[in-house]
Amino acid sequence: MTENSKKSEILNVAVDDGYAQTKLVGEHPETGEIVQEIIRSSVRQGRSGLSSFSGGGIDQYETEEGDIFTVSNEIESENTQFDGFHTSQLNRVLVNHALVKCGYGGKSVNLVTGLPVADYFLDDERDIEHIDAKTSNLKLGVSGPDGRAMPKVEDVRVGCQAVAAWFDYVLDDNLDQRHDATGSIAIVDIGGRTTDVAVVVGGNAIDHSRSGTENIGVLDVYTEVRKAIHREFKIKEKFPLDKLDAAVRTGTIRLWNKEQDISELVETVVSEHEGKIAREVERRLGSAANLDAVVFVGGGSALFTTIAGYFPNGHMPEDPEFSNAKGLYKFIRVKG
Ligand SMILES: Nc1ncnc2c1ncn2[C@@H]1O[C@H](COP(=O)(O)OP(=O)(O)OP(=O)(O)O)[C@@H](O)[C@H]1O
Ligand SMILES: [Mg+2]
Repeated sequence: MTENSKKSEILNVAVDDGYAQTKLVGEHPETGEIVQEIIRSSVRQGRSGLSSFSGGGIDQYETEEGDIFTVSNEIESENTQFDGFHTSQLNRVLVNHALVKCGYGGKSVNLVTGLPVADYFLDDERDIEHIDAKTSNLKLGVSGPDGRAMPKVEDVRVGCQAVAAWFDYVLDDNLDQRHDATGSIAIVDIGGRTTDVAVVVGGNAIDHSRSGTENIGVLDVYTEVRKAIHREFKIKEKFPLDKLDAAVRTGTIRLWNKEQDISELVETVVSEHEGKIAREVERRLGSAANLDAVVFVGGGSALFTTIAGYFPNGHMPEDPEFSNAKGLYKFIRVKG
């Protein structure tokens, strides 16, 4: 391939823009290999009062509308859990930031992103208005700090997160079918704040009577772990989310300048929540006997490692955190 034809190439990129973190899967702008990244930066409107010693870590963006947003790991995030997040400038900035961080600055991209089931459908129909609103929002511009090259978003598609995870379950990386697509498959997406259950029938319909959203997720684990730390160490300190996230992942936390082993406490909270979520899923799906599979995806599934064991037909993909993003990417490759 000549240098010029490579430059004019339009790269396929999928961005699963969740409330807790942004997951990106796409073709590497230089090597063409598949990139898979999680961007956990926080965003807030306005200029932050912070300045960075290292010169990195804080990025300021300006939207086409003229508003300024600061993205950094060092600031407290604005709550992304509001109606309209998916069609907001905040969302557009986060998606563009993820693209820039993964090397798509100055590159032309075909972007595909998702909406949660509850936002993608209105009653039993696709919510065209909402889908179009998200599409148009992502087509609007964002400019970066110091004239930094931003991605050129040539085309935007919006899929449904659960259907994306279904795609990832059914197709392997070569787009060959690896699981039967004709039956009914439940996708259970355990996220930060919510757990989405969606029964996908034949790959093109959702059984709404068995689908829905529960307000339980990994953030509830953080809350309980914090309370347990307070009890165990007789302290009242607040901890930022990323510290609790790390504590849950590693089973240790630094207090009084010393690593403390809290693995038992974390294990107790995690297994309690795993049971709670499994019971919520059972409430919707019963024993799941008339389903082909119950597929557990989302970051919560990576944390609740044994949750698939609650169902004889339970299944957990290798990288449950990336299921939606990988599925969106497969979707764009299949549909062209
Ligand atoms: N292996 C892991 N161990 C512990 N926690 C994890 C692991 N992987 C992901 N998480 C946590 O799981 C949470 C949910 O991640 P996920 O990417 O599913 O969220 P999201 O899609 O942004 O949220 P939502 O579905 O609410 O929009 C995050 O807080 C993340 O830090
Ligand atoms: Mg999600």
